[in-house]
Amino acid sequence: MRKKIIAGNWKMNKTLEEGMGLVSEVSNMLKDEYTGSAEVVIIPPFTHINSISKLIAENPRLKSGAQNCSNHKSGAYTGEVSADMLKSCGATYVIIGHSERRQYFNEHNDWLAKKVDAVLLAGLNPIYCCGETLEEREINTHFNVLHTQIREGLFHLSASDMKKVVIAYEPVWAIGTGKTASTEQAQEIHAFIRSLIAEKYDADIAQSITIQYGGSVKADNAAELFRSPDIDGALVGGAALQSRSFVDIVKAMA
Ligand code: PGA
Repeated sequence: MRKKIIAGNWKMNKTLEEGMGLVSEVSNMLKDEYTGSAEVVIIPPFTHINSISKLIAENPRLKSGAQNCSNHKSGAYTGEVSADMLKSCGATYVIIGHSERRQYFNEHNDWLAKKVDAVLLAGLNPIYCCGETLEEREINTHFNVLHTQIREGLFHLSASDMKKVVIAYEPVWAIGTGKTASTEQAQEIHAFIRSLIAEKYDADIAQSITIQYGGSVKADNAAELFRSPDIDGALVGGAALQSRSFVDIVKAMA
């Protein structure tokens, strides 16, 4: 059975105090209200990871992660944070290639491939994001765009490393816009991504990889998305900033 993962990407939101309060609420609500199988990942800004990891250490369902990391192991790279540092703060996952990093920080696939390597080298799990823009979908190039993102970012990996990767399909036009891909649109892409992995590696690896959907996931659309056979969880932005809306999304996963 594939692992189901609901991750909350806080982006650049919440002070440390606000973040600690939110995580305590989420942790307590999950203990009281959720008996399902999903792993829940809190992805705060770098500055909060250490404190939050300690806070959730008692709750085995909860893990923490980072929103980015350096492609270098260490050295003179002012302002950067390495995967080893994230590991030492308790992180388990690192988001690589979020569309905001691709768009605002010019992160391209070849660069992201190196970040994926750095995350794996530290013994952490990348959450590799891919997704097309509205324009790319409208001119019907989305399958090609996704294929290129997956091939250039991930397909240099050995089979054993590939098994450690989580993929998040996040259509750029659905992020923070209130527009969600329809369940059919999302399922179609998730099945396509899985077929690419089967072709490059094998069917067992393709079947074992968690593929999350992201883009305006809310409590009222999560259950339908999660019923699709190839959607194994969600990468949640806005709705992860409040305990009630985030926990309700988790509860939509059986
Ligand atoms: P959103 O963000 O849920 O606010 O659309 C998702 C994401 O960017 O990961």
